[in-house]
Amino acid sequence: MIDFLKIKSDFPIFKKNPNLIYLDSTATSLKPQSVIDKLIEYYSSYNANIFRGVYKISEKATEEYEKTREIIADFINAKKQEVIFTRNTTESINLIAYSLGRKIIEKNDEIIVSIMEHHANFVPWQVLSSEIGAVLKIIDIDEEGYLRIKDKKSRKINLYEIITKKTKILALTYISNVLGTINQIKKIIKSARKINPKIIIIIDSAQAVPHIKVDVKDLDADFIVFSSHKMMGPTGVGILWGKEELLTEMFPFLYGGEMIEEVTIEKTTFKRTPYKFEAGTPSIAEVIGLSEAVKYLEKIGLENIKNHEKNLTQKTIKRLLEEFSGKIKIFGPKNIEDRGGIISFTFDNFHSHDIASILDNENIAVRAGHHCAMPLHQRLGILSTVRASFYVYNNEEDIEKLIIGLKKVYQILKK
Ligand SMILES: Cc1ncc(COP(=O)(O)O)c(C=O)c1O
Repeated sequence: MIDFLKIKSDFPIFKKNPNLIYLDSTATSLKPQSVIDKLIEYYSSYNANIFRGVYKISEKATEEYEKTREIIADFINAKKQEVIFTRNTTESINLIAYSLGRKIIEKNDEIIVSIMEHHANFVPWQVLSSEIGAVLKIIDIDEEGYLRIKDKKSRKINLYEIITKKTKILALTYISNVLGTINQIKKIIKSARKINPKIIIIIDSAQAVPHIKVDVKDLDADFIVFSSHKMMGPTGVGILWGKEELLTEMFPFLYGGEMIEEVTIEKTTFKRTPYKFEAGTPSIAEVIGLSEAVKYLEKIGLENIKNHEKNLTQKTIKRLLEEFSGKIKIFGPKNIEDRGGIISFTFDNFHSHDIASILDNENIAVRAGHHCAMPLHQRLGILSTVRASFYVYNNEEDIEKLIIGLKKVYQILKK
């Protein structure tokens, strides 16, 4: 049994801010001491650039950097050469849109996304479509926040009305950062490949990899992208996993140092994947720090994390509905099995920023706004929501503090 109350002491931010109730892990997670120590270890023991030096500390930095690549590969069941370090999920998606999208998309081809995408997995495809004259198709959601992809009669996933022979790319989120919906990605991928075997499938897993087990071989997507900072690792590191044969065919995204094989006045040849996608000095300390985040996640176990968040989500929804029945509207699936630890809601007719700033006075950190999902909010017919999200360091006390905070919000704003 994991003692989730004890876990809080692994996160030094709570020592400096003992009253902090942090409910914004969807935006970025807090970092355990072991990750912070690893950053300090690099800067204080073997601060050097990687791949360049033939001296000891550079060799050590290179070894730690490459060890992280192996750790990430094992974590998602991939090959080492398929793991590319970028700056964040956003850059990973832009890399695919630029290096592959621009090569394969022609006029009138189709790119499919969903209405629940984060802007990171919406805007690059919208821009690419409009530049080339391709069609951006958008999968809608139903009243509960599920993708509308099921056959009305059989209730089985049916993409025949969405995917055609002209569809080149399907880019979908695994877990919605607003609705919390866990999409049935494995079934969607299987169904999509049946209809169009050539389709390229990209899964935005920014909200999935930190919270549930993601096995790239099992899912059979072409690309999986996520961010270190949402999985307890440092900021400034994104991960792009892609099938080796696709990465090998793709052109680099950025050109310069580190990614070349040979440069002459006439021409340049590039290294193989993953190095041809990692131009310039990367976030060395941060990549190395990420290795400790993965170790920490594995120590707790993703199954335990998933269950802990499910438990907190279920209890929070129950308490919100008990205390604020008729005043609060919670978005996303009613079935707790279909959602991650994310709860977005509207409260009376109060503005989300007013709610969040009153909660902030009570040391409760929640997110207010459109959460980089404006098309989704437009679809829901609202301007913004308040979002509370959970991770390993949250517990039931936080739920009660949120309830007390929201009672205060009501008292103040209802005057
Ligand atoms: C589902 C989803 N995709 C992409 C992103 C973008 O991540 P990053 O800002 O690390 O690029 C986020 C961030 O909140 C997200 O929730």
